[in-house]
Amino acid sequence: MAKKVIIVTGASSGFGKDTVKKFLSEGNIVYAGARRVEKMRDIEKAGAKVIKLDITEDESVDAFVETVLKNHGKI
Ligand SMILES: NC(=O)c1ccc[n+]([C@@H]2O[C@H](COP(=O)([O-])OP(=O)(O)OC[C@H]3O[C@@H](n4cnc5c(N)ncnc54)[C@H](OP(=O)(O)O)[C@@H]3O)[C@@H](O)[C@H]2O)c1
Repeated sequence: MAKKVIIVTGASSGFGKDTVKKFLSEGNIVYAGARRVEKMRDIEKAGAKVIKLDITEDESVDAFVETVLKNHGKI
């Protein structure tokens, strides 16, 4: 199956981080967002593209989405 370009929010712990690992293991391109970027170093090493994200800030959400679209043209 073709690689997907996936974004996961809340990726610094719990279900979010586990979801990132699952999607990476399937060979997808995964963007991981959360406020605590220091908690995402492990998934960054595993191949995730880590971006600081606060979903309560429109500018932060817009910048996150624009970065993915600029790099891949799809989500
Ligand atoms: N329905 C159910 O049966 C059920 C069961 C379990 C859990 N849940 C819910 O599922 C969710 C995830 O659970 P979890 O155990 O994985 O929780 P968790 O380990 O506390 O993870 C929460 C994630 O959300 C991120 N986050 C919080 N505020 C954010 C913000 N403003 N911007 C960006 N990211 C933010 C945190 O990252 P940062 O703090 O680094 O930003 C963290 O990565 C929770 O809402 C929980 O209540 C539902």
